[in-house]
Amino acid sequence: MQTVNRIETLREAVDDLRRQGTVALVTTMGALHDGHMALVRAARKQAASVVVSIFVNPTQFGPKEDLAAYPRPLAEDQAKLAAEGVALLWAPDVDAMYPPGHATTVSVAGVSEGLCGAVRPGHFNGVATVVLKLFNQVQPDLALFGEKDWQQLAVIRRMARDLDLTRPHASRIIGVPTVREADGLAMSSRNSYLSPDQRRSAAGLNEAMRKAIAQIEGGANVGAALGGLEADLLAAGFGSVDYANLVNADSLAELHERPRHPARLVVAARIGTTRLIDNMPVGPEERDEP
Ligand code: PAF
Repeated sequence: MQTVNRIETLREAVDDLRRQGTVALVTTMGALHDGHMALVRAARKQAASVVVSIFVNPTQFGPKEDLAAYPRPLAEDQAKLAAEGVALLWAPDVDAMYPPGHATTVSVAGVSEGLCGAVRPGHFNGVATVVLKLFNQVQPDLALFGEKDWQQLAVIRRMARDLDLTRPHASRIIGVPTVREADGLAMSSRNSYLSPDQRRSAAGLNEAMRKAIAQIEGGANVGAALGGLEADLLAAGFGSVDYANLVNADSLAELHERPRHPARLVVAARIGTTRLIDNMPVGPEERDEP
C-alpha cells in the first residue's frame, strides 16, 4: 500500500489505479475499528482498487469538541489497511487540505439542520466541504459510508444530487450497514471513552431501540413508543437524550405515524461526557445493492 500526502502525488497514483479498473473511496478520520474495516471490505468487493483517506477534519469539530485529543494512530491504521489490500492511503495534513486563503464552504440546507446538526452547529458544513474536496481530489467511481452516521450519509447524498456530482455519481454513494459489538452497541471510536460501567449501560441503547421499533411496527402510537424509549435509556444509565425521533429515511423529516415508506429511528444520547448515536430501519427498507 502506498501512502501519499501531497495532492500531485495522489493524482498520479490514482491515475495509475484507474488504468487498472474502478476506484472506490472510503473516507475516514483514522483510529480505524471494525466498522471502518467493513467499509473497506465492501469497497474491495465492488471496485478494482480501494483508496482510503485519513484526515482529522478540523472544520467539523465545534469549539467545545476536543480536536487535539482525537486519536491519530497512523502506523496502526496503515498496518490494518495494508492487511485488507487497500491500494492507496491519502493522508494529507491540514495545510494540504485547507491551504492559506481557503474560503469556500459547502452548506446543505434541510437535512443538515435538525438532529445532530441542531446540537453541533456547523458540523455538517465541515463534513460536506471536506467530503466534496475528497471526492474532487480522488474522483472515485464509488464511495462508501457507514449507515451508523445516517444523517451524514443523507447530507452527502443530497449534496451529490444537488451539485450533479459525477465522480462519484449520487447513485454510487453506498451506505454500508452498521457493525455492532456482540451486545448490539454500534461500533464507534467514541466507545473507547466509556468506563466499564458506562459500557454496560450503553448496551441498553440497542435494546431500547429494538423495543420501540417493535412497538411502532406493531401499530403502537409513535409518540408513546418514543417516550418509552427515552425513559428506557434514562433507566439504563444514560444521563440525557438529545433526540429520539422517527424520520423519513431520505429527507429526515420527522414522522408522527407508523411509516409506509422507508424510515429510520434515530437516537443521540449521552452517558457521562460521551455522546452516542445510533439508527435503525423502521417499516419497509430500501437497500443499496451489495
Ligand atoms: O465519518 C467520518 O469519519 C467523517 O465525518 C468523514 C466522512 C471522514 C469526513 O471527515
